[in-house]
Amino acid sequence: MKKQAVFAVVIAALSAVLTFGIKYANDWYLGTPKDAVPVVEFEYVPEKDKPAAESFVGTDAAVHTRAKAVKNTYLFSQRMNTKELVESAEGLIDLDGADAEDAAERLDEKYFIAAGSDIKPGTAEPVQIPESGQDEAYKILAEDGETDQINSNLVKVVKKTEDGKDAGPARYYALGKLKDSLPCFFPAGEDGKMVPGALPAENIKLSCYIPYVDVELEAWPRTEAAKAEKQKLIDEYREKRIAAEKEAAERAAREAAARAEAARKAAEEEAARKAAEEAARLAAMMTPEQKAALAEELKAQRFYLEKNHDRYMAYKIANPAKDNYAVVQAVNTNIDRPFYTNVQSTNTGKGILMLVNKYYTLGSGYAPALETLGSGYGSGSMHPAAAAAFRQMVDAAKAEGISLRSVSPFRSYGTQNSLYNGYVSRSGRAAADRYSARPGHSEHQTGLAVDINTADFADNFQNTAEYAWLIKHCAEYGFILRYLPGKEYITGYRYEPWHYRYVGKQTAQALMGSGLTFEEYYAYYLDK
Ligand code: DAL
Ligand code: ZN
Repeated sequence: MKKQAVFAVVIAALSAVLTFGIKYANDWYLGTPKDAVPVVEFEYVPEKDKPAAESFVGTDAAVHTRAKAVKNTYLFSQRMNTKELVESAEGLIDLDGADAEDAAERLDEKYFIAAGSDIKPGTAEPVQIPESGQDEAYKILAEDGETDQINSNLVKVVKKTEDGKDAGPARYYALGKLKDSLPCFFPAGEDGKMVPGALPAENIKLSCYIPYVDVELEAWPRTEAAKAEKQKLIDEYREKRIAAEKEAAERAAREAAARAEAARKAAEEEAARKAAEEAARLAAMMTPEQKAALAEELKAQRFYLEKNHDRYMAYKIANPAKDNYAVVQAVNTNIDRPFYTNVQSTNTGKGILMLVNKYYTLGSGYAPALETLGSGYGSGSMHPAAAAAFRQMVDAAKAEGISLRSVSPFRSYGTQNSLYNGYVSRSGRAAADRYSARPGHSEHQTGLAVDINTADFADNFQNTAEYAWLIKHCAEYGFILRYLPGKEYITGYRYEPWHYRYVGKQTAQALMGSGLTFEEYYAYYLDK
């Protein structure tokens, strides 16, 4: 750059600093820090400082006069030293709305040349100058002599004397790009290879061109008070940003969970649809005589229910290896359908015999009448009839030296929701589904179920005298062991030696020892 040009820039920059200095009294000034060399002085924000720099640029406060933003991908910690930049920015200061947009438009798509002293081209790579920027980009080099463009990123510059003679050896400049930053002209060899090692140690002015769409002026603190104010703004902004990021992350997690749930449901539905299709395909291959024979065989099964006939046929056709009795029981208990599909409302009209499982739900609104179990009986409350029976059972056990207490009787929809979600986060949905009901699907919400003494396998409850006593006597008080060993495929849950369900004496005595699950009993005897 010619001496005069440098001088002009110095004056322009200084006057800009002064003008802004006045505007912002003594605490603040806009543009370059007061000690900056008032020619172009870029400082690349190191990777590690970028978040801080970005967060400051993001602070939108009175002290941060947003006039323009410099380019798009990089940030200057010191900026605003070229004449052009200062002038452009000046034009925008304090302009709002339409005026600012106009001014921004005027600046848009222009290229401007600047020189920097602080650029270390350690990792510079050649770049091409876009067509639209070439004239502007080469202008700076032209100030240093006569230019000759060798190719799209190499320019030869020869200084000339007044009378047009070469005033020194030719210099070559290659256009390159520093890692993550803006394109600059670098001293190069004739072959166009950049020679960063050859940079003179003293304040060399590299020529850079900056395609800019945006220029930003910042208010820089001059006094300690202003510095503290700026820091406060940065801190506040950072806090806000952290909170916003946290919220966004939480929202994203919720959305992802909802998407996963929707995908899971869709997959389940698709599987059910395919199974039905396959059954229909196989059925179509049977002769009418074969179908009639199968129908007769199924009708002869114990627990056959007319209303389920078509489903028995379909299930048997899809599972020819299953014996007919198993087919009938499977369909009666809905296991021809995946858990949590074809969900229906529990018939609460069945009272203490209502069925709540993976196919029958109470929904979020259901809560039974409740009675506190009271001191000596453990925690919580139950449906009044169940509570009375539970107390009698506990008293009877106590008389025989057996100590029983409730650890989890009635649980609301909300409680079950938190419990289930907790289990899902801990062990994943598939594992959680084997031991915890989804909200609305827990028997505990009926007020008729109770976990006795424990709810944890680690306690080996099945090996205790308490358990042995319960198995022997619970039906006398109207309770059944609800989740039997080996019946997970029907109940949907692993064996739970501690979970008892009140169904009344008659049903309990019919069920306990029959080997039937409540699902099977319900389908045949209660829901015919
Ligand atoms: N643990 C039983 C299945 C429930 O969550 O209701
Ligand atoms: Zn339970």
